[in-house]
Order: sequence, then C-alpha cells, then structure tokens
Amino acid sequence: MAASTMNKAILPLLLALALPACQSQPAAEPPLAGASIGGPFTLTDQDGRTRTDSMFAGQYRLMYFGYTFCPDVCPVDVQKLMQGYALLEKSAPAKAAKLAPIFVTVDPKRDTVPVIKQFVSAFHPKLIGLTGPESEVAAVAKRYAVVFRAQPPATPGAAYLVDHSRQAMLFGPKGEPIALIPQDGTPQEIEAELAKWIA
Ligand code: NI
Repeated sequence: MAASTMNKAILPLLLALALPACQSQPAAEPPLAGASIGGPFTLTDQDGRTRTDSMFAGQYRLMYFGYTFCPDVCPVDVQKLMQGYALLEKSAPAKAAKLAPIFVTVDPKRDTVPVIKQFVSAFHPKLIGLTGPESEVAAVAKRYAVVFRAQPPATPGAAYLVDHSRQAMLFGPKGEPIALIPQDGTPQEIEAELAKWIA
C-alpha cells in the first residue's frame, strides 16, 4: 500500500503548522502546539457504545487512523504503539493512566463493531477502536489531517486496499495537539515520547 507516500505528503503540513512554536522554546513547547488538528467526533467503540471527543476530556489521547484489513503497516504500527504504551504502564503508571489510546478506522464499510473489537483486543485491553458512518469517519479524518482513499479492487467485489496517512498523534486533556509519536520507532522511543509530554 502507499501509506508511506501519503505520510510524506501530510508531514510537511504538520511540521509547517508547528514551526513557529519550535523556534523559541524547543524543549518546552510541544511541536504541534497551536496546530489546527483535531476536534469533535461522535463514533462507536468496539463494544457498540457511542464515544465522543468530550468524553475524553481530562485525558490525553493517542490517536491513530488506519484499517484492520491493512496487510502490513497498520497492524505493525498499532503493535508498536501499544508496546510503547505497555512500557509506559510499567515505568510511569500514573502517566499511562491519563492516556487513552484510540484507533480510528478509515474503512468503516468493513470495519464493523465486531471486526474492530477483534482487532483492538489483539493488541491491548485499553485500546479503544472507533468506527461509524462513512460520512462521519470522513469528517473526523479531515479534522485530524488524515487523508485516505480506497483503491479500486482488482475485480469487482474483490478485497481492496485503502491508502491512508500514517501518523500517531498525541493530544492533551483539552484535545489540544501536542506531538507526533514515532510509530515507526522502537517501543522504547514511543514510551519516551509519551512520557515526555504527559504531565
Ligand atoms: Ni494501513
């Protein structure tokens, strides 16, 4: 799939948005401070419950968009992110308790509630999986600067791939963007980045 290509397309945008904040206080200022990323959502979790962004008020959120049928990138990214999260649970349990890891599908047609449940439960019991109507998923993805596009299947009715942006984003207790989390790094690097920004 072309996830890495999409990622390259979106990263400069994120970095450009973050640039002014990085100049003066490189250590203290979150890289994504002030970026126009994030916002409201009303989706359904892996247990069929409605979840809105406001229900996460007071919690940090680690958001990753992908799809469960992804043949390679999404499962590997989610696995590493949750390994990093599990390390944080051991090294800094109070910080880990403040963080909600969230997977949002960009393929709601196939990622139904039971499919999402099976996917997230393979990685971590705390991982929340969200799906919903295609129109709402599209609107949420746009707010979170995630681009995705289903490829036409090789033959009608055959399985299809979905190109999508590949980025893990940390948001603060008010939903404010904080930093990109290096989902392609080691679990230790992911743990360190989460620990750095969660107060
Ligand atoms: Ni993927």
